[in-house]
Amino acid sequence: MRICPSVQEIRTAVRALHREGKRVGFVPTMGALHEGHLSLVRAARAKCDAVCVSIFVNPTQFGPNEDFSKYPRTAERDHQLLQSELVDFIFEPSVEEMYPAGACTFVTVEGLSDRLCGRSRPGHFRGVATVVSELFNIVEPDFAFFGQKDAAQCAVIKKMVRDLAMPVEIVLCPIVRENDGLAMSSRNRYLNPEERKRALVLKRSLDRITMEYEQGERDTAKLIAAGKQVFADEPGARLDYLEITDPETLEPRDNTKTRALVSVAAFVGTTRLIDNVLLTPVDLNS
Ligand code: PAJ
Repeated sequence: MRICPSVQEIRTAVRALHREGKRVGFVPTMGALHEGHLSLVRAARAKCDAVCVSIFVNPTQFGPNEDFSKYPRTAERDHQLLQSELVDFIFEPSVEEMYPAGACTFVTVEGLSDRLCGRSRPGHFRGVATVVSELFNIVEPDFAFFGQKDAAQCAVIKKMVRDLAMPVEIVLCPIVRENDGLAMSSRNRYLNPEERKRALVLKRSLDRITMEYEQGERDTAKLIAAGKQVFADEPGARLDYLEITDPETLEPRDNTKTRALVSVAAFVGTTRLIDNVLLTPVDLNS
C-alpha cells in the first residue's frame, strides 16, 4: 500500500494502472474510518483491479460554527485498517495541496444543494461537490463508491456526474449500522454514553414510519407526524428535519406511491446526526 500526499504522485500511479488496462475504484473519505467506510472499500475491491482511498477533512464543506477543527483525525489507525483491506493507494493531501493559494472555483449543483442537509448547512454541498470533482480530476477513477448513509450527498454527486459528463461510474452502497441500529458515523465518537442511548431515536423514528408505510399509509404528512411523535417522546434529542422526498431530486413528496426517501437529522447534545431509509412499493408497476 502506497500513501501519496501529492496530486502528481497519485495521478502518475493511477495512470500507470490505466495503461495496464486495470480498473480503478475510488473511495473518498474524511478518515476516522469505521465499518461503514470499510464496506465501501470492500465493494471497490470486489469490482475493481485496484483501490484508492482518499483521506481529506475538507474545510470547504464545514460551516463557520461546525466541527472542522475538532473532527476526529486518526491517521495511523486508518492506515492500518486500509492496509488490512488490501487497499493499493491512499491519497492523503494537505489543505494547501487541494486548495492552492487563491483557489476560487466552486461546483454548485443548483437546487439539490439547498435541500435537506443543504438547507441546514448552507454551503455544505458546494464544498462536497467541489472537493469530489477535484478528487475525480486527480484520481481519474473508473468507479467511485459512496454510502447511502449520506443520501442527499449521493443525489448531489450523481447529478453532478451526469450534468458535467464526468467519466466515472457512481456506485451506491447500503448503510452499515451498529448492532442496536445506530447508523455508523465518525461523529458517533462525540457521544457520551447517555447521548449514545438517546441517539437511537433517529432509527426509531424511521422504523415507526416504515411500519406505518408497510401497514398501507401513503400520506407523507401522516407518516412524518408519526415519526415526529417518536421525537416528542425523546426530549434528549432536538430534531433538525424529518422529510420525505424524491430520492433523486430531493423535492418533498405528498405521497409515497413511488419510491421515496425518508431523511432525518437531529442534534443529540451538540452532535448532529443523520439517518435515512428508502420506502419502496412492493408493487413494481406503481
Ligand atoms: P465521510 O463522512 O468520511 O464518508 C465517506 C463515505 O463513507 C461517504 O460516501 C459516506 O456516505 C460513507 N459512509 C459513512 N458512514 C457510512 C455508513 N454507516 N454506512 C455506509 N456508508 C457510510 O462523506 C464524506 O466523508 C465527505 O463528504 C466526502 C464525500 C469524502 C467529501 O469530502
